[in-house]
Amino acid sequence: MTVHFIGAGPGAPDLITLRGRDLIAACPVCLYAGSLVPEALLAHCPKDAKIVNTARMSLDEIIDEISAAHGAGHDIARLHSGDLSVWSAMGEQLRRLRALDIPYDVTPGVPSFAAAAAALNAELTLPGVVQSVVLTRTSGRATAMPEGEALENFAKTGATLAIHLSVHVLEKVVADLTPHYGAECPVAVVWRASWPDQRVVKATLETLQTAIGAEMERTALILVGHAIGAEDFGESRLYAGDYDRRFRPVGTEPRFPESAE
Ligand SMILES: C[S@@+](CC[C@H](N)C(=O)[O-])C[C@H]1O[C@@H](n2cnc3c(N)ncnc32)[C@H](O)[C@@H]1O
Repeated sequence: MTVHFIGAGPGAPDLITLRGRDLIAACPVCLYAGSLVPEALLAHCPKDAKIVNTARMSLDEIIDEISAAHGAGHDIARLHSGDLSVWSAMGEQLRRLRALDIPYDVTPGVPSFAAAAAALNAELTLPGVVQSVVLTRTSGRATAMPEGEALENFAKTGATLAIHLSVHVLEKVVADLTPHYGAECPVAVVWRASWPDQRVVKATLETLQTAIGAEMERTALILVGHAIGAEDFGESRLYAGDYDRRFRPVGTEPRFPESAE
């Protein structure tokens, strides 16, 4: 049997991959991180599947549940919100499974930063403005930031910042970023991107707190940078009519003549 780690996406139940959905449907056991994984996804489980919400379980208890299913010869669907490559606590589970010699695989999901950008209809990398996106967070009660990963350090680059797990310390985020991006820099906060109660606030670093008011919901992403809402940016060379490239040779002496056939 195999433990299938599946990125469940940001919230909307149809923002899961077909592979993820089919794996859920094929597994007699499903463990899901209940705080952020939409319950509607559980409708894909087989009718008599064992479904376990792990929101209140410890790592030991989760691994015990997996070991028991493994012992019974069952495949397991293990659902985490968004994508598994960031803040999913997958790493520690995989390490335990390696020690127990239990096989696993990983199916990616739509990360929340992508859903938040989609809610803004925004491309976060615009030619001539910004070409990097930093996925980051601030220190939390459970996780301290490693030295060198302070928000100010990323801010010095001018990249678009997608700041997770931090809306409750918005005042500090704004104070740390303003000296680098300027008070006029666009910022957007997206709560529960892709859920039915999604909320978006667009502002500048200076006006953000007034624009938000007393919002308490913590599942939110802060997107900061000059690409957000920008109109003054270059066009990508990729689609320029005179740009000679492999899939669209241009001119009498194209760089990749064989592709012209
Ligand atoms: C534990 S992390 C999980 C990240 C997830 N693995 C991902 O790929 O986005 C939870 C944080 O991600 C962000 N987040 C997750 N889902 C979100 C959503 N639908 N809308 C906005 N932010 C979300 C919030 O910052 C939240 O505090």
